[in-house]
Amino acid sequence: MSRAKSKTRSRIEQALRLLQHRPIVLIGMMGAGKSSVGRRLATKLGWNFVDSDTEIETAAGMSISDFFAEHGEEEFRSGEARVIARLLRDEKTVLATGGGAFMSEATRDLIRQEGFSVWINADIDLLFARVSRRPTRPLLQTPNPKETLKQLMDARYPTYALADLTVTSKDVPHDVVADAIIDGLIEHLEPLQTEEAAANDK
Ligand code: S3P
Repeated sequence: MSRAKSKTRSRIEQALRLLQHRPIVLIGMMGAGKSSVGRRLATKLGWNFVDSDTEIETAAGMSISDFFAEHGEEEFRSGEARVIARLLRDEKTVLATGGGAFMSEATRDLIRQEGFSVWINADIDLLFARVSRRPTRPLLQTPNPKETLKQLMDARYPTYALADLTVTSKDVPHDVVADAIIDGLIEHLEPLQTEEAAANDK
């Protein structure tokens, strides 16, 4: 194995040790790349990947936009909270959540208890370029979707900032963001574990 490959392997092993099987929960706006990054991250860790929107679509037998049209946002939010609570019971999983999920206090509390949260942050131009490629998102069916996206960002960013880790995504391959998450979580969790070990030794 090359030196670079063996260094990557040992970073991954370190991350796995620190996580202790707790799920990684990706949060952030529509278009941040939660699902694409999440899939790559899960592959690197040898974990499962799951997407809460896909789970809702499978359970409901319809797309998210049809769900909003038929049942409304309130019902979507309560289904979303239930689905995430269930998915958080799975170990060794990377969970990508819909952009509004972390705004629920109950969901945030559960994520804090059961998992490790990562906010994938990105600027408005990158987000808008990405969401424009799949213009079906129900919350953006407005006369000025870019302005709507901006308003949602302003309202949500202070809450997203409560995540355990923030990674800023530029227009780079999803693989690079997945690696930044592995590095960031080691940096975040390692000192906590050292502190815990020191307290246990007292
Ligand atoms: C939403 C984001 C969507 C989906 C729904 C609502 C939101 O998921 O859950 O359309 O409130 O931001 P993505 O963030 O995966 O696009």
